[in-house]
Amino acid sequence: MIDWLGSDLDLDKVPTHVGIIMDGNGRWANARGLHRTQGHAAGEPALFDVVHGALDLGVKWLTVYTFSTENWSRDSNEVDFLMQFNVDLLERRRDELNDLGVRVIFMGDVMDDRVPRILRDRIKDAEDLTAHNTRLTMVFAFNYGGRIEIVDAVRAIGRKIADGSLNPDAIDLDAIGRHLYEPDMPDPDLVIRTSGEQRTSNFLLWQAAYSEYVFTEVLWPDFDRHVLASCIGEYQSRERRFGGAVDESLTDIER
Ligand code: IPE
Ligand code: IPE
Ligand code: MG
Repeated sequence: MIDWLGSDLDLDKVPTHVGIIMDGNGRWANARGLHRTQGHAAGEPALFDVVHGALDLGVKWLTVYTFSTENWSRDSNEVDFLMQFNVDLLERRRDELNDLGVRVIFMGDVMDDRVPRILRDRIKDAEDLTAHNTRLTMVFAFNYGGRIEIVDAVRAIGRKIADGSLNPDAIDLDAIGRHLYEPDMPDPDLVIRTSGEQRTSNFLLWQAAYSEYVFTEVLWPDFDRHVLASCIGEYQSRERRFGGAVDESLTDIER
């Protein structure tokens, strides 16, 4: 029994892995006459409410898109703000996440020279502190791009072929998956995008091949555990087919 949950979700059919493209911070802020960066700040309580909601519902993996490889093209003030915001957030929130039993992982090119040294250190602190937690794995897709992730996997595979440790004929779907940034991460069952945009923007391109997508008009700072639950409700109403088909015109005996 979850006290905040009003709707009739099937708690036995909660997605194992939920990915979220947290979008709309800038529009949320601008609609209030605020600076875009204030929209990012307003997204923090939304994110932590979602973490609590995910924990209550029994979601095991939560991947949040926090900074894409394309986001470097934004105004340098906004980029600088986002880098420092990640430092502050990790300092303020790592103990809380640890106490909740959340394991923190950063997925993407953290070693990029453009990522400030202090942020790299804070990421390592948070990952080390929470490494043994098992209730929920929270993946920050940061300086992440699905295309470069595949490029990096191809490079790693190419190196193994060059040094003779991998036979090209042994490359299959599983081999590619094992060379992605988080080989042990299950594919997302559900990908949510906020703010009304309906595109992937380079998020989990390989892993989301058969994910259900739910798009909501809600801007990220207005998102919370209740909206998460309603997105999961929509997910539960979908029929996942994975390419298969059932002929509804046949009776059980004919089938
Ligand atoms: C998402 O909100 C956060 C990041 C991409 C870092 P946006 O900053 O993209 O907000 P909009 O889409 O401009 O409203
Ligand atoms: C995707 O949002 C990236 C993140 C949420 C971090 P964007 O706002 O960057 O995507 P586009 O530019 O609208 O496609
Ligand atoms: Mg956006």
